[in-house]
Amino acid sequence: MHAFGFDVRLRAPERLISLEDYQRAARRVLPRMVSSFVDGGAEGLRTVAANRAAFDDWQLVPRLLVGHDTPRLGVTVAGTPLALPVLLAPTGFTGLSRWSGDRDAVRAAERCGTRYCVSTAASWTLEEIAEAGTTDHVFQLYPTGTAGLSAELLRRARNAGYRTLMVTADVPVMGNREGERREGMGIPPVLTPRRLLDVARHPRWAAAVVRHRRVGGRNMVDEGGVAAAVRAAELQERAVMQAELSWDDLAWMRDGWPGRMYLKGVLRAEDASRAVDLGCDGVVVSNHGGRQLDGAPPSLAVLPEVVGEVGDRAEVLFDGGIRRGSDVVTALALGADAVLIGRPYVHGLAVAGQRGVEHVLEILREEITRTLVLLGVAGVADLDRSHLRPATGGHASTDRVPAY
Ligand SMILES: Cc1cc2nc3c(=O)[nH]c(=O)nc-3n(C[C@H](O)[C@H](O)[C@H](O)COP(=O)(O)O)c2cc1C
Repeated sequence: MHAFGFDVRLRAPERLISLEDYQRAARRVLPRMVSSFVDGGAEGLRTVAANRAAFDDWQLVPRLLVGHDTPRLGVTVAGTPLALPVLLAPTGFTGLSRWSGDRDAVRAAERCGTRYCVSTAASWTLEEIAEAGTTDHVFQLYPTGTAGLSAELLRRARNAGYRTLMVTADVPVMGNREGERREGMGIPPVLTPRRLLDVARHPRWAAAVVRHRRVGGRNMVDEGGVAAAVRAAELQERAVMQAELSWDDLAWMRDGWPGRMYLKGVLRAEDASRAVDLGCDGVVVSNHGGRQLDGAPPSLAVLPEVVGEVGDRAEVLFDGGIRRGSDVVTALALGADAVLIGRPYVHGLAVAGQRGVEHVLEILREEITRTLVLLGVAGVADLDRSHLRPATGGHASTDRVPAY
């Protein structure tokens, strides 16, 4: 039954009709160690849950008889027109979910008229990913304490044709992800008989890890097998996560990067303002999907403050908990210029590679379109606070797949 379900899904991901279906399906094709890494969050998962619950704080209020049938979904991000207001967020070690991860993701993004944010901790090198695509995407930098390593990554990104840089600043130290630690996903991974049995129950996944050696950290080390990925993760912890990084480091990066630059991980209006004063073209309001500081506010709750502070002079991108087209619409109505999704496209990759990611984006496109028509809005550019009403009373839980 299990194997039968697996095959059916690979041939026909179209049978999955929501992003939640993709999450469930991904849990079936991945060993628990890996899904705990993808779906997990920091400590008590308060911020993971809050990211979803924050959408329940807003209701969407339709306008009747306004005569719009094909709403416009296009936005411009970093000077690039996109066919839909959703980008693929940077995710490290994506090859763990599917060996072809970053290559598939960049191609799916292009097919759907959007862009991929390539993580410093990608499972393919930034050059390989650039070659797999046909246009420029976004390079995400984990700034390093060693200026030389950052400078080298930026030089490589420029040479490979990336024109937009996203600097992630919310990982001064790795978040305490107890769920994945409980499943043995540490540095190095800890395999017990139970975990080995679980891996053995996923022979396709295990064979791909061994055969393709695309686990992660390929921008840091030359190989991609498990041992090399552990080396990359160690290097990342030592060199990349530097608690002493300061605004001077961001200034230095701004000076050294000729293209557009965004600061990711912003949860305060004053930080957004400082980043823009320093020359950033935009910010990403994000709490890293609840994977870093548990207890951090849901990114949706701080989005209006950030938009109020810098929305008239910089782009404001948003991520954290988007699982529906109506979530995208809510974030845009609160002032975001576009949103990013993380886990949902990794689920798409796990289930069906490039086709799975395209389908995840397609589901969102359809849901956004339907939501706009129901709202009576001609296009995403017309969304504003007048389409929202604060919800009163208790929250209805929107999460039906439990987190790790
Ligand atoms: C498996 C995984 C790996 C991630 N790796 C990175 C990373 O390398 N760099 C980064 O800036 N953010 C990383 N993130 C955070 C995402 O970019 C994004 O902020 C978050 O996933 C958004 O929340 P969502 O998953 O609810 O959409 C990662 C998230 C996940 C789930």
